[in-house]
Amino acid sequence: MRILTTISEVRAACRGARSPGECLGFVPTMGALHDGHLSLVRAAKASCGIVAASIFVNPTQFGPNEDLAKYPRSFERDCELLEREAVDLLFAPSVEEMYPQGAVTWVTVEELSGKLDGRSRPGHFRGVTTVVAMLCQIVEPDAAFFGQKDAAQVAIVRRMVRDLHMPIEIVACPIVRQADGLAMSSRNSYLDAQQRKQALVLYRSLTRVSELFNRGERNAARLIAAARKEFAAESSVRLDYFEIVNPENLDAVEDVSRGALVAVAAYVDTTRLIDNILLVPR
Ligand code: PAJ
Repeated sequence: MRILTTISEVRAACRGARSPGECLGFVPTMGALHDGHLSLVRAAKASCGIVAASIFVNPTQFGPNEDLAKYPRSFERDCELLEREAVDLLFAPSVEEMYPQGAVTWVTVEELSGKLDGRSRPGHFRGVTTVVAMLCQIVEPDAAFFGQKDAAQVAIVRRMVRDLHMPIEIVACPIVRQADGLAMSSRNSYLDAQQRKQALVLYRSLTRVSELFNRGERNAARLIAAARKEFAAESSVRLDYFEIVNPENLDAVEDVSRGALVAVAAYVDTTRLIDNILLVPR
C-alpha cells in the first residue's frame, strides 16, 4: 500500500494506476478504524480493481465545542489494517494540505444539511460535503463507499453528487454492529463499561420500532412514542432526536407504509452517538 500525503502525488498515482475498464473505488474515513470502516473497504475491493482510502480528521465538520482535539487517532494501526485488506493507496493529508491559507470556498447541500444531525450540529454537513467534494476531486474515483451508519451523510453526499454532476457512484453499505447491537463507532472508545451498557438504549429503541412495524404499526407518531419510552427508562442517556423520515430528502413522514428511515442521536454523558434502521415494507 502506498501512503501519500500530498494532493499532487495522489492525483498522479490515481491517474497512473487506472487502466481502461478498471474501476477505482474510494473509501473516505477519519481513521481510528474498526470493522465498520473495513466493511466499506471490503465492499470496494469486491467491486473495484483499485481501492484508495483516506484518513483525514476534517476540522471543518467539528463544531467549536465538539471533540476535534480528542478525536481518537491510531494512524499506525490503521495503516496495518488497510494493508491487510490489500488497499492500494492511502491518502493521509495534513490540514494545511487540504485547507491552504485563505481557503474560503464551501460546498453546501442546502436544506438537507439542516436536518437530523445538521440541526444539532450546525455547519457539520457543510464541512462533510466540502471535504468529500475535495477528496473526490483529488482521487477521481468511479465509486465512493459510505456507511449507512451515517444515513443523513449518505443522503446529503448523494444529493451533492447528483446536483454537481459528479461522475461518481455512491455506494451505501450496511451498519456493522457489535454482538449486542451497538453500532460500531470510533466514538465508542470514549465510553466506560457502564456507559457502554447505557448506550444500548439506542439500538433497543430502534429494535422496538422495528418490532411494532413488523406487527403492522404504520403511524410514525406512535412508533416515536414507543421509542421515547425506552429512553425514559434509561434516564442517564439524553435523547437529542428520534425521527422517522424519508431516507432521500430527510423530511419527516407521518405514515411509514412506504418505508422510512428511523434515526436516533443521543448523548451518553458527553459522548454523542447515532444509529438508525430502515423500515422496509414487505
Ligand atoms: P468516519 O466517521 O471515519 O466514517 C467513515 C465511513 O465509515 C463513513 O462512511 C461511515 O458511515 C462509515 N462507518 C462508520 N461506522 C460504521 C459502521 N458501524 N458500519 C458501517 N459503516 C460505518 O464519516 C466520516 O468519517 C466523515 O464524515 C467523512 C465521510 C470521512 C468525511 O470527513
